Amino acid sequence: MTLRQCLRVGQARLLDAGIENGDAEARWLLESVTGRAQTALLLSEEQVSDAVAKVYETLLARRIAGEPVQYLLGSWEFYGFSFAVGEGVLIPRPETELLVEFAERLLAAHPAPVILDLCAGSGCIGLSIAKLLPRARVWLLEKEQAAFAYLEENRRRLGVENAVLIQGDLFDGPAAFGLPHADLLVSNPPYIASEEVPGLQREVLREPASALDGGADGLDFYRALAKDWLPRCDAAALECGETQTDAVAALLAIHYQSVAVRRDLNGLPRVVTGTDPVGKEPICCYN
Ligand SMILES: C[S@@+](CC[C@H](N)C(=O)[O-])C[C@H]1O[C@@H](n2cnc3c(N)ncnc32)[C@H](O)[C@@H]1O
Repeated sequence: MTLRQCLRVGQARLLDAGIENGDAEARWLLESVTGRAQTALLLSEEQVSDAVAKVYETLLARRIAGEPVQYLLGSWEFYGFSFAVGEGVLIPRPETELLVEFAERLLAAHPAPVILDLCAGSGCIGLSIAKLLPRARVWLLEKEQAAFAYLEENRRRLGVENAVLIQGDLFDGPAAFGLPHADLLVSNPPYIASEEVPGLQREVLREPASALDGGADGLDFYRALAKDWLPRCDAAALECGETQTDAVAALLAIHYQSVAVRRDLNGLPRVVTGTDPVGKEPICCYN
């Protein structure tokens, strides 16, 4: 079989199995096995070796059995950077890029901002910010060992030197970690209501439950942030579910004079930001 034929067979198998994005996913998997770029695959009459065919077949079978394509590829792009991902860590999502964009714009002129990324997972938020704002110091907190290992790997992979990684539990509060007062707190915490977790898409269920389950109403982490962490941060940007923005905005309004809901590329409200801490002269003109 030629590479071109192999790709066609892979695409047909994934599409037949009901995988919506099967065309692209079959191509990504073949690219990862052969090291060839898209155009070369589409045109190639080169014969596929038995070894390559076997590895490709295994990946297709795992994908059909429900493994996320990102885990099979071993890396995924976020904000233009490539992050290592795999079992035990949440796959970075495009809507999360809103948090990085906000940080970049809010702190562009700050000479030395201090930023906290809580529930850091792969580090996609905090490490991207650290790359984009080299004068910043970013502290990333993650509880789970498997995710923390990816966080360490990604800091090496991106060559980030202005980030401090801490393995710990957000519910222990900031005093437990001796963290400094922050100019900005960013977080994409677990926010799915516990009873909704079992009904999630099968690929999402391959991601760690600890990255998804936000307690009975999905808001446990936001309440802890509002109680213990936000009083020590001059601004905050929190991702949440599209039905949770009012609740999260109400928590942010306890601490910030300016609260705004931001929408993702699909127009869904996904991020709530707070600036101008209560009790301080408003200095922030970012909306
Ligand atoms: C929704 S994921 C977000 C990961 C990453 N920030 C992103 O946006 O892709 C939430 C992360 O919080 C971590 N986590 C869960 N409970 C935690 C806790 N009590 N303290 C700190 N991190 C926690 C999970 O392991 C997971 O990596």
